[in-house]
Amino acid sequence: MPANFDALDQYIDRQIEAVAGYFGHVEWAAIDAIGRWQVEAGIKGNLAEIGVHHGKLYFILALLRQAGERALAIDLFKDDGLNTGIHAGRDKAFFDNRDKLGIGLDEEEIWTVDTLTLTPEALHARIGDVRLFSVDGGHAYANVVHDMRLAEAVLADDGVMIIHDFFGIGWPDVSVAAIHMLTEMKDRLQPFLITQYKLFVARPAAVERYRAMLAANPRLATAQMSDRAMFDNPITLLNLGRRELLERRIKRKLGFYPKKL
Ligand SMILES: C[S@@+](CC[C@H](N)C(=O)[O-])C[C@H]1O[C@@H](n2cnc3c(N)ncnc32)[C@H](O)[C@@H]1O
Repeated sequence: MPANFDALDQYIDRQIEAVAGYFGHVEWAAIDAIGRWQVEAGIKGNLAEIGVHHGKLYFILALLRQAGERALAIDLFKDDGLNTGIHAGRDKAFFDNRDKLGIGLDEEEIWTVDTLTLTPEALHARIGDVRLFSVDGGHAYANVVHDMRLAEAVLADDGVMIIHDFFGIGWPDVSVAAIHMLTEMKDRLQPFLITQYKLFVARPAAVERYRAMLAANPRLATAQMSDRAMFDNPITLLNLGRRELLERRIKRKLGFYPKKL
């Protein structure tokens, strides 16, 4: 039976703009295309995110789940008073959004924890092998190093790790830590896709398959792709096409995307 992505279509087409978060259309288009293709290609595994905030990205992962798969949300889920505006509400907003979107999650799929206290073994015991893992927790050097080690330890052979803010001007140590980890783990992790806010990496043996899939994916047919080099290997640079950007802007003006869930 073909996979049913109706709820994911609805979330991406109509609801995602109403959830506060830190990434844009090109990233959700890439994550959506990769996650669906994994299902079509028979790649199995769980889905996980470190650093969930209000759930904008995590809900994509949850809606990609297939029979027998789980999605793990890992966060402090704590509002420390330092976070204001769209950064506020980390203690409640994720749970409110989950309820408004009607996304069923088991208790086991939400882990309120400081990742610095976790070992790879503890994470593996909780979630097993992961096919799509978003790393977007603490942005200090020590957090990124620790979280990338955790994610690598559970990444499936055909899985993808997504590193947020690799190019974020506000968080230079994310880039430094990620470069150190990608150098240390170069036999196990290789970047294959860059977007404005995220770097996508996979096992070296899987990289060319992912790059070929991106180039041929009908869901990304109107996006702009170019080849670049990173660590001496080819990597795909993805941007949205002008038509897509214009269409989105017009639809936003016409109120097609509700501002509230
Ligand atoms: C940039 S936000 C995540 C944004 C989210 N991925 C999205 O797509 O909208 C970073 C999150 O990391 C969480 N975080 C920071 N340090 C953490 C730690 N040590 N352990 C677990 N979560 C942490 C914060 O609570 C916050 O929700």
